Amino acid sequence: MPGSIVVGTQWGDEGKGRVVDIVAKECAHVVRYQGGHNAGHTLVVDNEVFKLQLVPSGILYDHVVPIIGNGVVVDPYVLLNEIETLTAKGVDCQRLMLSPQAHLVLPYHQILDELAESQLGDNKLDTTKRGIGPAYADKASRVGIRVEDLLDPTHLRARLHSALAERNVILRDIHGHKGVDPDQLAEELIQDIAPRVAPYIGDTVGHLHEALHAGQRVLFEGAQATFLDLDHGTYPFVTSSNPVAGYALVGAGIGPGAIDQVIGIAKAYLTRVGAGPFVTELDDAVGEHLVDVGQEYGTNTGRRRRVGWFDAVMARQAVRLNACTEIALTKLDVLDELETIKVCVAYDVEGERYEYLPHLRRMHDKAVPVYAEFPGWQQDLSEATDRKDLPREAIEYISFLERQMGVPIRFVCVGPGREQYLRFAA
Ligand code: GDP
Ligand code: IMO
Ligand code: MG
Repeated sequence: MPGSIVVGTQWGDEGKGRVVDIVAKECAHVVRYQGGHNAGHTLVVDNEVFKLQLVPSGILYDHVVPIIGNGVVVDPYVLLNEIETLTAKGVDCQRLMLSPQAHLVLPYHQILDELAESQLGDNKLDTTKRGIGPAYADKASRVGIRVEDLLDPTHLRARLHSALAERNVILRDIHGHKGVDPDQLAEELIQDIAPRVAPYIGDTVGHLHEALHAGQRVLFEGAQATFLDLDHGTYPFVTSSNPVAGYALVGAGIGPGAIDQVIGIAKAYLTRVGAGPFVTELDDAVGEHLVDVGQEYGTNTGRRRRVGWFDAVMARQAVRLNACTEIALTKLDVLDELETIKVCVAYDVEGERYEYLPHLRRMHDKAVPVYAEFPGWQQDLSEATDRKDLPREAIEYISFLERQMGVPIRFVCVGPGREQYLRFAA
């Protein structure tokens, strides 16, 4: 049963969307399995830029059925808007299929996210303020509203009343907000949203199982990344879902036997948007250079990303956590002009050397990076299409990262465009 997973191995924005766009060419289905519109996945095709938040990155191929799985939290306003934007660009979105079990992100989730962040003050998590945390919290508390609730007005009203009974107390008494009227929101959803979302709702689990049994390749598209994972990331500076590959099974409704490929996506350096630890962070001119050349600004929030050297300790941990079978290395071209390139090969924590992430977060916080240094290639790689086009220094850098991670690098991306990548033979 042929299933492939694309998963971020860092803190997000590794280029998952563009790798999905490459791999989807040979797939029948592309499934988002977690996260919501906190994601921003960029595809550049014939100089046209597509920034996707909820719609799976396979949408640009006519042969792909894009599926939003049960593990995703869906803001229906954002989804409809995205469909409208894509349709206006000539992309057919009729094939999109949405799980009835996916939970909705509603306006009160976004309000709660914003208020919780301002309440935290200096300790804020720097969330995307999209309402993702509160929506997943409601799901776990069993007061969430699901996509299928849109199909039953009486049930939807009742569910909104019970969800908002407690949420409104929090909004009014803790945050001094006027609260959200459940009847008004229900009417808006019933009149305006439900009729437009209904055509996309389908039996995603049944559909995926039939496809897998028929031997069709299904690609599972992770959002966020391993170190934003609620369990395995740099808690509490994480998102509220599980981006790791294992969750693709839960978030789409399939079993482990369906997966035969896990592609870990790694940027040739490291970025993070939002607060939290960052062992290899650069606050110098090299960092500025990487932000400039890599255009390291959030795809959907526009925030400047923090940058640092490639962290092989994190990468090795990510290979373990996701059982990566291979790596796609992105943005190698961003390093083109550097004289020297560093890679963190281990952490020094109070004199002890760690090659995987220390098992206690407080040790992680004390980690000092141990670096290996490489001469840069100082040459434009953006036109390279084959391994033989790469200078020796670039090949050495790639080979070193490959040895550090212990799995083969199968794709090397040298520009944002659909064709700007090299495939390394197995
Ligand atoms: P995602 O969230 O993992 O899908 O990544 P984003 O789309 O948020 O961020 C990746 C950014 O890098 C986007 O602007 C891409 O167009 C761009 N990008 C992806 N791969 C490459 C590459 O190999 N080189 C360069 N220069 N840009 C790339
Ligand atoms: P893609 O899929 C990078 C970060 C936020 C914040 C933390 C929690 O494009 O890689 P949240 O709004 O999820 O509660 O915020 O997670 N974050 C991302 N960073 N890429 C993303 O998605 C992210 N989605 C969330 O900046 O630090
Ligand atoms: Mg992104």
